[in-house]
Amino acid sequence: MIDVRLSCFDSRKSCEPVCLFGGLDLMTGASMTRLEAGVLTLTFNRPQKKNAFNGELYEAAAQALLDADRNEAVRVVVLTGAGDNFTSGNDIKDFLQKPPNSEDNPFLRFMRAISRFEKPLVAGVDGVAVGVGTTMLLHCDHVVASARAMFSMPFVNLGLCPEGASSVLLPRLAGMSLASELLMFGDTFDAATALRARIVHQVVPEIELAEVVSQRASALAAKPVEALRLTKRLLREPLRAEVDAALQREGKHLFERIASAEAQAVFAAFLSGRK
Ligand code: COA
Repeated sequence: MIDVRLSCFDSRKSCEPVCLFGGLDLMTGASMTRLEAGVLTLTFNRPQKKNAFNGELYEAAAQALLDADRNEAVRVVVLTGAGDNFTSGNDIKDFLQKPPNSEDNPFLRFMRAISRFEKPLVAGVDGVAVGVGTTMLLHCDHVVASARAMFSMPFVNLGLCPEGASSVLLPRLAGMSLASELLMFGDTFDAATALRARIVHQVVPEIELAEVVSQRASALAAKPVEALRLTKRLLREPLRAEVDAALQREGKHLFERIASAEAQAVFAAFLSGRK
């Protein structure tokens, strides 16, 4: 099963599904596949594994973003997770069994796609947002979290190092002091701390999350398209070279760390239930 559910239905044309992504059968259920008034919702969909990102999910999400950027019917993309969680981060089984060993790997393809995405990206975060679940938010334009959302970047605890350009973007947003604390201790932190770190823009009760995300995405979808895209480009472009360099630099170290004895021991412990 492909692990991305793409919501894509055009409300102006009844509930007829619109297939945006030729070649890949990305829809796990037509009723969930919709584009509503220019808002494409991309749902990470491995709820039994807390939406952990395996290679397949990275590939599908990267391709979905590339396709959404090209599709004129899509004005805004919403990222969210199936069930009550955003994502538990990289699939640890994949770290052990399919470690990335070149620049052309699904994780970096996803990171390049999200960091270069030209249209507004809104995220709705409930439950856990671990590892890449937190770092991908640094590339979003508006992040809404539920009050019960929990974040973490436990890279050091796993024997790894920062990824997703978090080593440059987090200090910019949160300041060096808080960025160091979050990345070096790797502790889980709550939505209020994520707000203080400027990883999220607003925190709402969980029952209001879907509605607030929908309102914020619709508000952006109703703006003049070109002016909004230009504004995003002007905000993000000065950082582009720095973000690209960070992805490459972090990636090189990350791949080495994944293969290290330190990290392999932590992965094996997790998978054997010794969390
Ligand atoms: N990779 C692989 N499997 C994962 C996973 C991950 N990142 N996160 C969760 N799972 C699996 C669990 O192994 C478990 O599988 P099982 O039902 O076959 O035993 C299932 O998803 C449910 O997770 P569980 O740990 O039972 O849920 P929980 O509510 O007790 O804890 C987390 C949730 C996210 C705190 C915990 O699963 C966790 O720490 N996951 C690893 C997070 C991580 O380190 N990610 C990598 C960041 S770089």
